[in-house]
Amino acid sequence: MLYDTLCLSSSDEDLKKAAILLQNGKVVAIPTETVYGLAGNAFDEGAVEDIFKAKGRPSDNPLIVHISDFDMIRNIAVDIPPIAISLANKFWPGPLTMVLKKSDNIPSITSGGLDTVGVRMPESVVARKIIELCGNPLAAPSANLSGSPSPTTFNHVRDDMMGRIPAIVDGGDCSVGIESTVVAFDGDSVRILRPGYISLEDILTVTDKVEIDKAVLEGITDGEIVASPGMKYKHYSPKAKVLLIESDFESFSEFATENNKDGLYLLVFDEDVKRLELPCISYGGTDKEQAKELFAKLRELDNLGAEIVYARAPKKNGVGLAVYNRLIRAAGFEVITIE
Ligand code: TXA
Ligand code: MG
Repeated sequence: MLYDTLCLSSSDEDLKKAAILLQNGKVVAIPTETVYGLAGNAFDEGAVEDIFKAKGRPSDNPLIVHISDFDMIRNIAVDIPPIAISLANKFWPGPLTMVLKKSDNIPSITSGGLDTVGVRMPESVVARKIIELCGNPLAAPSANLSGSPSPTTFNHVRDDMMGRIPAIVDGGDCSVGIESTVVAFDGDSVRILRPGYISLEDILTVTDKVEIDKAVLEGITDGEIVASPGMKYKHYSPKAKVLLIESDFESFSEFATENNKDGLYLLVFDEDVKRLELPCISYGGTDKEQAKELFAKLRELDNLGAEIVYARAPKKNGVGLAVYNRLIRAAGFEVITIE
């Protein structure tokens, strides 16, 4: 279906308009601190079906349900373990999604047919205001077309969703820029299914019973069952072919010069740019800058007409692990390590 997509601001009046659309079962793209989300009433099967259609998303990939205050969780999840409450106390509102046992109120389409549901209370004041005005929790995947980089600005959402959904709320650029950390529980143990801005080191301040799922850094073989269905799809990819290069600057520079070809761009760190003579763009210096910039830079590479990209690999600790996890997927797990 083709829509005359309404572009709304973050004024009180426009947020009310967004909330009314959502109450009426419509899909609205909304800003959050991580990335923009494609939101619909989590209890409304029709709205959720429209989200999957607008994104072109496989129906077995579950959506995250967003809440504006903790009490809303009672209608969404059951048997919440004490460790989940401790993490919520420390990190909510914020970029942490917890996979919990699903309440019967949540339709199976929202949870991709699983008996669990991912729940998150966003830090973004605009996102929470919209949820509050709507009065219902909102199911929202990232507001990109399935497979392309997640949208971190209003323009990214417009590029992907114009004509595909009834409305987009402009909340400016996302401050975090990378999707939330997704965790699941087994008793009082925590498993990180998708790394994000809340890092392993952050979670270790609450419990030492935490581990990283193997799908975070490794490719999935065909038919393998994964804890987080989103991990099995090719993801975050620009049109260009991306190669992830793990090496120091000198080896990277040498590799790029020796393997230079038409349509090549280098995706590097801030301090590298002035030392390279081939076409290159930076995705930041620190891990947090890289998280904020990565998706925007992947889109920029497309706009520049890049055909092949050699990307310098970020470090794998702190928020860097999340950046690495996204880049290795953008690269279709093609990594070159130069010792
Ligand atoms: O920051 C975010 O999380 C953004 C904003 C909009 O909140 N949302 C987001 O949604 O990134 P999405 O749908 O693009 O990614 C959700 C990820 C997927 O990898 C999905 O498989 C996983 O979370 N997920 C959701 N519910 C799950 C569940 N019940 N069990 C396991 N994994 C789940
Ligand atoms: Mg996504």
